Amino acid sequence: MRWLFAAIFLVISIHHVSPTVVRGGAVLPAAAFLSPAYYHKSCPNLESIIDQKMRAWLKRDYTMAASIIRLHFHDCAVRGCDASVLLNHPGSERAAEASKTLRGFSLIDEIKAEVEKQCPKTVSCADILTAAARDATVLAGGPFWEVPFGRRDGRISLAREANSVPQGHENITQLLGLFDKLGLTFVDLVVLSGSHTIGRCSCHAIKQRLYNFTGSGMADPSMNANYVNVLKKQCRSDGSYVNLDFWTPRKFDTAYYRNLEKKMGLLSTDQLLHSDMRTGSVASLMGSQPELFTTQFAASMVKLGNANVLTRKEGEVRFKCSSLNSY
Ligand code: HEM
Ligand SMILES: *[C@@H]1O[C@H](CO)[C@@H](O)[C@H](O)[C@H]1NC(C)=O
Repeated sequence: MRWLFAAIFLVISIHHVSPTVVRGGAVLPAAAFLSPAYYHKSCPNLESIIDQKMRAWLKRDYTMAASIIRLHFHDCAVRGCDASVLLNHPGSERAAEASKTLRGFSLIDEIKAEVEKQCPKTVSCADILTAAARDATVLAGGPFWEVPFGRRDGRISLAREANSVPQGHENITQLLGLFDKLGLTFVDLVVLSGSHTIGRCSCHAIKQRLYNFTGSGMADPSMNANYVNVLKKQCRSDGSYVNLDFWTPRKFDTAYYRNLEKKMGLLSTDQLLHSDMRTGSVASLMGSQPELFTTQFAASMVKLGNANVLTRKEGEVRFKCSSLNSY
């Protein structure tokens, strides 16, 4: 019964968009100005350039797939998907403590350089990062979706705002609040967290949970005890990494949700998605219905990519993703 309600809500949430822009009396969301055809005339090769670069890079280093997906999330979570996370100057988001383990900047720079050769001053860094995250998902074995284009790059990037991106020790109320600001629901929260089915986590981020949960001097009791012991062995130093999905860390599947049922969520925020009344039914549903997860992941990623975007005359199209245009 629980999952039936969740399933009904899913169908509703796919079609939900929040109106934010008023134009000629008609209320349109900013994302309504995005379109998959946006660069068809001005940069017809865009998606194949991104696809080729992603393939070549991932062949050398498959771990970059997860890092690019995370980079896109961190971009969208702060000031919307405006490439603000890519700016590399003192005091920018990238300089924040919360951004220390972000990777993939040079891959995006490399794609941008090639795009500039073929379509100068045309394609925004925000659009490149969004499409790269889609390709990373596909290349890791996840679903494909059409990416709507037409985002503009922001000119503001502040380190203190990057520290509001969730770090893994928040409660579900806080996560729901953050997602709500991005136009995302509890379904999107559960489904997008499913990308923790690939990728890694620095031991620094889970140290408290293994050794001193909420000051108790003990491991988080909501974590499987054998799993705690394995993690302690893998985490010999703060600089070590462990897989977010213990069983199939390279595969984009639904093992993440089944891990939660075994008390094997790596982050306490992962585990809470399973135990919290507001999110638990969606988490079990995703664990048992792989096709539903695949479809909904694509829908939720489109929503994430549309979050608080800049369009038309707002922002700029950067020449280099790591620095603002100078006039
Ligand atoms: C909902 C709250 C979320 C929290 C608390 C969270 C937290 C984290 C943390 C702590 C890490 C490990 C970082 C480190 O190395 O120290 C991580 C990794 C990752 N996150 Fe999340 N995350 C959240 C949502 C998301 C979303 C929405 C996405 C994508 C749509 C995402 C994608 C990833 C990926 C792919 C990795 C692996 C990165 C890599 O291997 O380089 N996360 N996340
Ligand atoms: C979640 O965290 C916030 C901020 O720390 C706190 O005010 C709130 O009481 C917490 N909510 C729950 C349900 O634990």
